[in-house]
Amino acid sequence: MNIPQPPATLLELVDWAERRLAMAPLAYGHGTDNPRDEAAWLVLAGAGHAPDDPAVDPAARVGADAVKAIEELVRRRIDERRPTAYLTGRAWFAGLPFRVNEHVLVPRSPLAEPIAARFAPWIGARALDRILEIGTGCGCIAAACARAFPEARVDATDIDDQALALAATNLGDLGLEGRVSLHRADLFDGLPRVRYDLIVSNPPYVDRAAMEALPAEYRHEPGAALGAGEDGLDVIRPLLRAAADWLAEDGLLVIETGRAGAALTARWPLLPMIWLEFEYGGDGVFAIEADALRSHDFMADARGG
Ligand SMILES: C[S@@+](CC[C@H](N)C(=O)[O-])C[C@H]1O[C@@H](n2cnc3c(N)ncnc32)[C@H](O)[C@@H]1O
Repeated sequence: MNIPQPPATLLELVDWAERRLAMAPLAYGHGTDNPRDEAAWLVLAGAGHAPDDPAVDPAARVGADAVKAIEELVRRRIDERRPTAYLTGRAWFAGLPFRVNEHVLVPRSPLAEPIAARFAPWIGARALDRILEIGTGCGCIAAACARAFPEARVDATDIDDQALALAATNLGDLGLEGRVSLHRADLFDGLPRVRYDLIVSNPPYVDRAAMEALPAEYRHEPGAALGAGEDGLDVIRPLLRAAADWLAEDGLLVIETGRAGAALTARWPLLPMIWLEFEYGGDGVFAIEADALRSHDFMADARGG
């Protein structure tokens, strides 16, 4: 299928790119769920426009260089099965722009929705002093928390230095470098000894079988950001056990577990996790209050070794 020749309109190019993508065996799940949206992102990037630029006219005509750049982006999306966000270097989370590269997960956590709602009804209008995000990647959840809780100081961690470097750039771009402190830490090991009102994490949680079955697109993401052992709980298990010691008296812990939630419930059936409901899609996120964590007997409740 031939690409529209210059001077082609942006709309003609989006239609062409959509048809090309739709004919290829691609997986979606990195911020879009359909070839039309990805076609629009690729065409706008190739033509040098931001995807949220209100001045972009779909009838605008582009020259030979832009057509060539668009053709190359679409070719790479199909041949390399590379997520669009890595090709354009950009992703959005909670309405904020982030640079992304292959050292960080492409942001897509459903946590954007409860963060925007300030985790109501648990937190809501209550003012928070300190927030911790564990496993920040490009910094998206920490930045969204800093925006939603302007009164709070935010600490954000990762074990990956390159992820932390990119998060620092993103926080600087957003003017949040004075509000969010980055720490190289393995879970809590490497953090200042303080108590947090809110700890939030989208940790690695993909189990071994699911890792082996991942579509090619996901293999461009860092394995250490996705995989978490046989049952997907290698990071969540120690995080949960340690969290009570880092939470304030009336603190809240919120963890995204994806499908590892089933293994978690099987492991500690008496742990009083509250599974969040989402208006805009998503699941596999629970909240638990510091009190409940503190009084839970992890040893007595443990099933399955
Ligand atoms: C699923 S990604 C989440 C990235 C980002 N917060 C988001 O939601 O897009 C998990 C992140 O946790 C980091 N990570 C993995 N194990 C960790 C650990 N033990 N302590 C801190 N961070 C860890 C990974 O490097 C990765 O950046």
